[in-house]
Amino acid sequence: MLGLFNNKRAKRNAEKDLKDRTTILKVGNFAVTEAYNQLRTNILFAVSAQDSNIIEFSSSFSGEGKSITSANTAITIAQANAKVLLIDCDLRKPVQHKIFGLKNDKGVSTLIGRMSKAEDTIHKGVIENLDVLTSGPIPPNPSEMIVSKRMQELFEEFSQKYDYIIVDTPPINVVTDALELTKYTSGLVLVVRQGITTYEDIKKSLSSANLIDANIIGVVLNDVRDLKQKYGRYNKYGYYKSYGYESKDEKKLTDVKRKK
Ligand SMILES: Nc1ncnc2c1ncn2[C@@H]1O[C@H](COP(=O)(O)OP(=O)(O)OP(=O)(O)O)[C@@H](O)[C@H]1O
Ligand SMILES: [Mg+2]
Repeated sequence: MLGLFNNKRAKRNAEKDLKDRTTILKVGNFAVTEAYNQLRTNILFAVSAQDSNIIEFSSSFSGEGKSITSANTAITIAQANAKVLLIDCDLRKPVQHKIFGLKNDKGVSTLIGRMSKAEDTIHKGVIENLDVLTSGPIPPNPSEMIVSKRMQELFEEFSQKYDYIIVDTPPINVVTDALELTKYTSGLVLVVRQGITTYEDIKKSLSSANLIDANIIGVVLNDVRDLKQKYGRYNKYGYYKSYGYESKDEKKLTDVKRKK
């Protein structure tokens, strides 16, 4: 019972934390804004030579900052007067509706299932120049939805209407969704979190991306601080677990650590 309470509290704190961190960008914190402006410039240069204006954000595992980085990057690009659509394609643990305080009764899942129309589903002008398409209700078959023909059609339709499309996705080393989506996008930006992501995690993500010829636009080093490693390997897995993803392999590793 206590564990359940602690988990709920941890989840609430994490959600509040997420909201606070995008608020920082909305109200304008110089250092954070500067870092994101630099990221925007680099990303836009990197995709300028590509046919597609759709940019995905992913990472190796959970909790590395995909959602917060994609939200803040979308805001930064919108602030530079480009018309941006942010799409929550994490149909397993969506958070963009929480970050922006939006309803999520309709979204990607209802659009793919033809239960709603784009004009009634996309949240328009969430901030100036930024529209947000939330995940919609969590479907039982997220991977099938992601690879559906309808998803491709939606991306094609949106890429005509917006200057840039930013896509938040689940972790690469846990589920295949992010890599599947690269078929329709210019590639993905890999978020790496200091003290959390390991060299092995990155290597595994890059080799999975290589296998299907997915383009890696670049890497964002998130949560850089002067401190020595904050999280050890053991804590790292505990951390992932508290965010809800735990693949069989991770679970095995966690169990091994616990037995030690
Ligand atoms: N640079 C940072 N400094 C402090 N906290 C951060 C930073 N980046 C992310 N966080 C926090 O870490 C948590 C996880 O971030 P986020 O949801 O963006 O990760 P994610 O990679 O999308 O995770 P998931 O795979 O679960 O979707 C959030 O509470 C967020 O506020
Ligand atoms: Mg996320």
